[in-house]
Amino acid sequence: MSSSKLFTPLTLGDLTFRNRLWIAAMCQYSALRRDGVPTDWHLAHLGQLAAGGTGLVITEATAVNPDGRISPEDVGIWNDEQVAAWSRITALVASQGAVPGMQLSHAGRKASTFAPWGFPGRRGTVPVSEGGWVTVAPSAIPYEPKHHSTPVALSVDEIDAIVADFRAGAERAARAGFRLLELHGAHGYLIHQFLSPASNHRTDEYGGSLANRARLLLRLIDEIKEVAPELVLFVRFSATDWVPGGWDEADTATVARWAADAGADFFDISTGGNLHADIPVAPGYQVPFAQYVRQAAGVPVGAVGLITDAEHAEHIVASGQADAVFIAREALRDPHTPIRWARELGAPDEEFWAPQYLRARTA
Ligand SMILES: Cc1cc2nc3c(=O)[nH]c(=O)nc-3n(C[C@H](O)[C@H](O)[C@H](O)COP(=O)(O)O)c2cc1C
Repeated sequence: MSSSKLFTPLTLGDLTFRNRLWIAAMCQYSALRRDGVPTDWHLAHLGQLAAGGTGLVITEATAVNPDGRISPEDVGIWNDEQVAAWSRITALVASQGAVPGMQLSHAGRKASTFAPWGFPGRRGTVPVSEGGWVTVAPSAIPYEPKHHSTPVALSVDEIDAIVADFRAGAERAARAGFRLLELHGAHGYLIHQFLSPASNHRTDEYGGSLANRARLLLRLIDEIKEVAPELVLFVRFSATDWVPGGWDEADTATVARWAADAGADFFDISTGGNLHADIPVAPGYQVPFAQYVRQAAGVPVGAVGLITDAEHAEHIVASGQADAVFIAREALRDPHTPIRWARELGAPDEEFWAPQYLRARTA
């Protein structure tokens, strides 16, 4: 009998995940018609990840309006054509036994950038003349000034409009069959831009104190809980900007507690992305941040970042550093990583296999 904790179910609200090894959000830059509609690529990609045995597949950053896309090739959830396309994907993911989750996002000052492939030699902001757009942010402070254009500071009315777009996106995601939403509050995108004092210099009710900088996130949670109360709600944070005086883990824990009180169910703890910083990247380098938030805020968390072997992932969950582990690149190298790790840990794996593949389970 295996004693694996990683491969035991986890229940949040009405939703039970078959295990605690989950697939993190990964942009594919593959809505090549630039209409935000997921394509056959997304169906194949997310479907094969679900067939790999994971408990949860989270979509890439999915924009709540066209200006919220990281690149023109990003997917979205702002119209019903997108709902129809996502519906095929959620049905496939769920049919494989994984929970379908959507990462809801607005890229703010990091929107309208060149996708990392397909545009040789180009990076940073896509000019308006080439299909890009003017970006928005809490304050008119560019990310990486060399490559990114200066955003326009949002008015309060414009913030209200973005909140409405998140609300509508959540309602559409529920209609498309998603069971879970993750608010993208990490990696220097709009929510993180509001949270961090380095990117938010506002003097109104959205800037200054921690409570003011967290106002957008907390409003989004309220709206989503109202329009889609049946969906489990995750928040992804970058727990630090890795820069003195920036956003840090103590701020993260405080705001995670507020977010949990507002109805968020689970916290996915990453780091960085808002400022240039020297990041001490190493196996499991973000795990201590997850553990800190779990203890300081008393909330369930997922750890992510360079977790590439089964024993390491098992240790993180078994030792109580985190309640679940997310993987990204390891799942691209081998979409069947969850099945492989279950076998390596001696955990029962048969239920994770697609029946079509069962003949390959034993030699
Ligand atoms: C191709 C790719 C695309 C990514 N896109 C997103 C994204 O859309 N949203 C997000 O929160 N993180 C994104 N990430 C970050 C991953 O979710 C993850 O946090 C990071 O890759 C570290 O995990 P890993 O070491 O297991 O790859 C992306 C990572 C990769 C490799």
